[in-house]
Amino acid sequence: MKLINILKSRLVQLSAIATLIIMSGTTSADTPTSGVMQLAQNSDGFEVERVYMQSCWACHNSGAAGAPKVGVAADWAPRIEKGMDTLLENAINGINAMPAKGLCFTCTDDDLKDLIQYMVDSSQ
Ligand code: HEC
Repeated sequence: MKLINILKSRLVQLSAIATLIIMSGTTSADTPTSGVMQLAQNSDGFEVERVYMQSCWACHNSGAAGAPKVGVAADWAPRIEKGMDTLLENAINGINAMPAKGLCFTCTDDDLKDLIQYMVDSSQ
């Protein structure tokens, strides 16, 4: 059951984030602002490839529901033409069968931008 797998990976992701928050609480005494600034850019512990595999791969590897396949330049060329701002907006809000935030509810806008850049870079 796919939903179960999604929920499981979400739990792993959340506990990883919780661990990072606890760790940053104990180690950030001499640089109190660095953690906050990091959070403003990407969510804690964000790794583009890992999050792609957790949140986007299921649809964008198989082309499920008409998703543009990562690695297939012809699928991405017309998307790339729209420009990053439009792609990001559509990923945040969802478009047709593409769910809002690609179901990565812990992703910040910057995380999503990095994910899209990763998908585009892998599809040229
Ligand atoms: C449930 C399946 C599904 C998941 C999960 C999913 N996508 Fe998609 N995505 C789609 C489909 C379907 C489309 C094509 C929508 C259309 O244009 O009709 C799409 C299109 C897109 C586009 C192109 C939007 C445009 O304007 O052309 C981007 C960018 C994108 N997805 C990013 C992501 C990212 C980033 C993730 C992971 C965080 C993700 N998607 C997860 C199904 C999915």
